[in-house]
Amino acid sequence: MVGGDPGMEMVGGDPGMETVGGDPHEQSLCAWAPGRVNLMGDHTDYNQGLALPVAIGMGTRACMSYGKTTGVSENSDMSPLQVTSDAQVDPSWTGFVEALATILRRLPDTHIRTCGTVSTTLPIGKGLSSSASLEASLALAMGLRGNKRSLATVCQKTEWMATGVECGLLDQIAVVFGKQGHCMFVDFSGKFPDVQYVSLPEGIGLSIVDTGTSRSLQNVAYNDRQSECRKASELVGPLGNLVPGDLGAVKNALLDHPQLFKRVRHVITENHRVRQLCESFSTGRFDTKVISETFALSHRSLSGDYEVSLKVIDDLVVAIESLDGVAGCRMTGAGFGGCLIVAHDKHRVPDFGRIGSLEWWQVETSDGARVLT
Ligand code: GLA
Repeated sequence: MVGGDPGMEMVGGDPGMETVGGDPHEQSLCAWAPGRVNLMGDHTDYNQGLALPVAIGMGTRACMSYGKTTGVSENSDMSPLQVTSDAQVDPSWTGFVEALATILRRLPDTHIRTCGTVSTTLPIGKGLSSSASLEASLALAMGLRGNKRSLATVCQKTEWMATGVECGLLDQIAVVFGKQGHCMFVDFSGKFPDVQYVSLPEGIGLSIVDTGTSRSLQNVAYNDRQSECRKASELVGPLGNLVPGDLGAVKNALLDHPQLFKRVRHVITENHRVRQLCESFSTGRFDTKVISETFALSHRSLSGDYEVSLKVIDDLVVAIESLDGVAGCRMTGAGFGGCLIVAHDKHRVPDFGRIGSLEWWQVETSDGARVLT
């Protein structure tokens, strides 16, 4: 649809084939990976749909060495921790280290560095993909070599093993494929997602606001929604193939399953909003009308049809929408807490302090995971 539009770029063919990884002979290697925020398209990745994430300037740095000892310690301003063995799974982030080491050890010709430190500037567990950022930086520092596809896939397998939740590829794609000044139009319908870069319009500012709410329900709800969507697709076909014009027929097919219909309606309309926003960005204009409509409808769909929001979050979205300079505000990521993404005029950063003592960050976009030289 948007291929060839002014804001869409194919960078030297398929970016998934770009190689990643450092020199296996280096005794020590440092790598860095960003976090991500999703502008549009939530709960669409595991439904063969579309999403529009950006990689952000906050991220994770991992430095690892070969050695007889095994251990990864965290060196973070936020919560200093010491871990002396990769078999220790408390604190919880070390579960990702253990899972990743297990997966990398199974790869042919991969000798992994097992001793080092990680540090992050990302708030942990706030829906900004701190785990995907840890996975990607650590995989490169430990010694993974391949292409961007293989890095994203290894990170996703690590997430599955560490959390028991079979998430989609959105987070790992965003932190591996990120490109400064751009969002990524990701199409999950193929065997491996297709990534195209879209420049962010001049004049747009993005901020992330922490809702301050707990995400304890998240994993349970995530698994439930996945199985509902699987059930629905057995009745109406792959959800990613459906468009708004199919809603009437889908409603008839799901007359006995009103809850499944709501889930499917979210996926269909959310994919449509990804296309609308991407088309608007592709013109290069900061079109506040399109942003305001798509963000508002998306949040209401996540809340009403997909039921992954909370009343306090819905109230916060309404309060933020009323601030000067705001074009749109919506929940981003899996839901039940985490963060909101706010699009606004770059030169009029909203006065979030008017609402209360909120934690928030201005988004700087970033390139994806890489070895540091
Ligand atoms: C989490 C998952 C992603 C995606 C989002 C919702 O972040 O890890 O795969 O499903 O939720 O869009």
